[in-house]
Amino acid sequence: MEVQRAAEPLLPVASPPAGDRRRTMSKVKTAALWTSPWLLLAMVLAYHRFDSSGTPKGVQDPIVTLTVEGADRGRDMSQTLFGIFFEEINHAGAGGLWAELINNRGFEAGGQNTPSSIDPWSPLGKENEVMLTTERASLFPRNPIALRMKILCGNGTACPLGGVGVANPGYWGIDVRAGRTYQITFWLRSDAMVNLSVAFISQDELRVLAQQFLIVDEASSYDWQKYQFDLVATDTDHYAKLAFTTSVSGSIWLDQVSAFPEETYKGHGFRKELAEMLEELKPAFLRFPGGCYVEGERLQNAWRWRDTIGPWEERPGHYGDVWNYWSDDGLGYFEFLQLAEDLNTAPIWVFNNGISHSYSISPRNIQPWVQDALDGLEFARGPSTSTFGAIRAAMGHPDPFNVRHVAIGNEDCWKPNYQENYMAFYKAIKLLYPDISIISNCDATNGPLRHPADLYDFHIYTNANNLYAMKSQFDQKTRDSGPKVFVSEYAVTGSDSGTGSLLAAIAEAAFMIGLEKNSDVVEMASYAPLFVHEKDRRWNPDAIVFNSWQQYGTPSYWVQTLFKHSSGAKLLGHSVTGANGGPTPVVSAIRRHDPQTNGEYIVIKAVNFGKDVMAMRVVFNGIPANGIAFPNSTVATLTSDKTMDENSFSMPEKITPQVSNLAYPESDMQIMLPPYSIVALDLRLNSTVTLSPILQISSSN
Ligand code: AHR
Repeated sequence: MEVQRAAEPLLPVASPPAGDRRRTMSKVKTAALWTSPWLLLAMVLAYHRFDSSGTPKGVQDPIVTLTVEGADRGRDMSQTLFGIFFEEINHAGAGGLWAELINNRGFEAGGQNTPSSIDPWSPLGKENEVMLTTERASLFPRNPIALRMKILCGNGTACPLGGVGVANPGYWGIDVRAGRTYQITFWLRSDAMVNLSVAFISQDELRVLAQQFLIVDEASSYDWQKYQFDLVATDTDHYAKLAFTTSVSGSIWLDQVSAFPEETYKGHGFRKELAEMLEELKPAFLRFPGGCYVEGERLQNAWRWRDTIGPWEERPGHYGDVWNYWSDDGLGYFEFLQLAEDLNTAPIWVFNNGISHSYSISPRNIQPWVQDALDGLEFARGPSTSTFGAIRAAMGHPDPFNVRHVAIGNEDCWKPNYQENYMAFYKAIKLLYPDISIISNCDATNGPLRHPADLYDFHIYTNANNLYAMKSQFDQKTRDSGPKVFVSEYAVTGSDSGTGSLLAAIAEAAFMIGLEKNSDVVEMASYAPLFVHEKDRRWNPDAIVFNSWQQYGTPSYWVQTLFKHSSGAKLLGHSVTGANGGPTPVVSAIRRHDPQTNGEYIVIKAVNFGKDVMAMRVVFNGIPANGIAFPNSTVATLTSDKTMDENSFSMPEKITPQVSNLAYPESDMQIMLPPYSIVALDLRLNSTVTLSPILQISSSN
């Protein structure tokens, strides 16, 4: 049986070739229709089904009716309901969001003893022409290693044309584009006169993409000097290298080499396209900098805020031993706070509480760790006259950052000493910063905590069916004065998710609707992890995939965008009735105010987590027939042909919300919910609609 299609669809739908059911499906998926009764009948006859390979086949549509209490004032939803969680995992920051192009810029990644690995730096020239060694010769005491480049040619034997030297490929290639400007900074000294080419070269080392020469006379070259200039590219290679070459014999010492694109997000060093993808989510908070990354396998490898502040050349960097890579810590505590400010979002600092994966500081030795957290808060919030506030001011931010939440550790509740040490942190922070909300790692879902807390962490990684079922997870939670829930990490993982499947995203959408409905007890939630570099997949799936020059959102990312209006909105009552007890979609209805248009909108989200298409009639109580403004209302549908479909660099927008304007109704509003889909209606209310002052909330599914 072929799909029956509306005679006059209000959204343009092209005729599919006969027999091409999959193509038909992908067209129908964008059709949200206001139907006449006969049209409704036609849609009842529409049929779709996924077979075992996830391909739509045929089955009869169920019909459901959604009734929304459109004129309700609604219940306040958490102002901070949906945010983002950044962890330095998968090279999310180093080689990712932080726009530094040089990998191992200070030559510390191989450790502080010599000889040390200089990976990924490599020589340009033969062994008898150039010799690269590491020496403890740096100007910076906390990162003592510098590179010595001994030029063996040029004195008797001629160097090859273009000279010899050293090159850095960045993080799996440097994105150099013709016409763009890059700021190059490095520290250098020499035992001879310097005549050095500093250039971006192509991956195959055959083309020069941008070049400057540095000439320093012998007497001026003996001491360390900082050099800084722009390179303007005249050619493009997305996988380029930065090369230092010379034909002058002698030794050159190189240290703290940095290259930044001139253009970064808000001029603060963040890779623009990636930060803009975060901005698009309108996140209400930024949890940072991890995760397990905060803890470390061993305490000495944990992320410690004070090692990540101050001039970048002086930061020691550290080896993150949970995700197993080096970070120069250019993206440090200050930069995270700056990012939160730039994204107009609330920073949530997760600090190390003296616990790693393998060790817990005992309560009698916890005081320095407590002081460390207090110093970190002074850095963020103290006046610029305070000890640590002054460092922040010297870094360019005299005004305090708006830190109002901290998490005492990550996933540590069950580890030795957590409970005792928690109280030491809690008391000290509340004494000095009573307005700061404190997040415990202990789960209060099944009973009260053994300690006071404003919020508690809840993490869930599971398969699609489980997460879908967890849409009701917080329905039964007691509405008491106890801590609110922070679902600070959640995602579908395992074989249901691949590296970011439709199936995972749709289950997450249903879970998020459950969070919206419970936003009186769930104050915050963030998907995890946020980023993955295609060359360093430590964790699958992730919201945003990137390489040196491209990026795309997984379906999970795009689901997040459909919830960007939820924080601070009003939850409306609604009911859903199925036909003959058949399956029903998971639905939420919220009202939001849009400051840009100064308009009121009702946002309805409906998730179909089944293999059959659903037709849903939408009815509003309290909203007159002319209450919705057309065509300022839209419908967005996210689905795909197969449940395991993913986006990719070659098809980055295969699964994205397909948005159309809604047209005027002929009678009832009829929405098609394709198999495994989320459909979001954004309906602008006419200013004539008046809202009831009575708070009524009920929802039947
Ligand atoms: O999100 C990846 C990891 O999952 C986080 O580091 C940790 O908190 C959780 O176990």
